[in-house]
Amino acid sequence: MKIIKKISDMQEFSRQARLDGKRIGVVPTMGFLHSGHTSLIDRARAEADVLIVTLFVNPAQFAPNEDLDTYPKDFKRDRELCEAHGADVLFAPTPDEMYYPDQSVWINEEKLSQKLCGAGRPVFFRGVCTVVAKLFNITLPDFAVFGQKDAQQALIIKRMVRDLNFPVEIIIGSLVREANGMAMSSRNRYLDNEQRRNALAISEALHQVEKDIVTFHIHNKEKIMIAISKQISSAGGEVDYVSIYDAETLDDISDKSKRILIACAATFGKARLIDNVVLDLNN
Ligand code: PAJ
Repeated sequence: MKIIKKISDMQEFSRQARLDGKRIGVVPTMGFLHSGHTSLIDRARAEADVLIVTLFVNPAQFAPNEDLDTYPKDFKRDRELCEAHGADVLFAPTPDEMYYPDQSVWINEEKLSQKLCGAGRPVFFRGVCTVVAKLFNITLPDFAVFGQKDAQQALIIKRMVRDLNFPVEIIIGSLVREANGMAMSSRNRYLDNEQRRNALAISEALHQVEKDIVTFHIHNKEKIMIAISKQISSAGGEVDYVSIYDAETLDDISDKSKRILIACAATFGKARLIDNVVLDLNN
């Protein structure tokens, strides 16, 4: 596996791979990889001739009060995991390589990013869209794989690709959970044992709803949202949001909705955690 740190070297590599007729797949990450990430890498490996994993903790998607400086890192382990899962290239630039100090062009998605995580983290999706667009221009992929764990991010990237005509196919990989049901996240590292047990309330509450939906009609949204919130706060979590939207559009659910996204964000100790379930109303 090649490790590339310079944008010009990465572009040169990808340009050559394209000239050779290779199908390039990319999996963007911020590192500290876990089985959620490697499931995306495996998915991409199955479809790519050339597989690039990117590792970049993107300063532009962190607000000043967030965890940029403490975001967990383990380059050696990440490199080994990428290699073990068959990546051809690990692209790991520095912030100085990625951003000019006076960068003045940014990508703003203006609709889907107003809700859920975007409401409380105003610069977040501007940072995500901008860095993903840059990574696409640097790695020149035919397709890119993102995770359903970040359901809103996945929808926004798809919208960016659609609206700005990026010639990149977006594939969404399923959400990978720990054996106890907790969504895997690099930020789970911030939890001590007790917080880890308490934070299970998030996935338990969401999965409870999947069952309750049989009793509570989905249009009884408020009741469902309150039940989830209560379960999380009784476990000591500070709820940022619990939301129920049409899973394709993030609009309020209507009779036309086929899939419903139930998503929440809550803080336990120093960790802001997100999780979601999607209910298929056709089933
Ligand atoms: P990061 O949080 O490292 O996640 C990288 C990719 O892994 C994202 O597509 C995310 O949805 C996916 N992922 C994380 N946890 C997962 C899980 N438990 N199951 C399945 N997939 C999971 O998301 C980012 O980085 C950044 O915003 C990025 C897109 C790299 C832009 O900086």
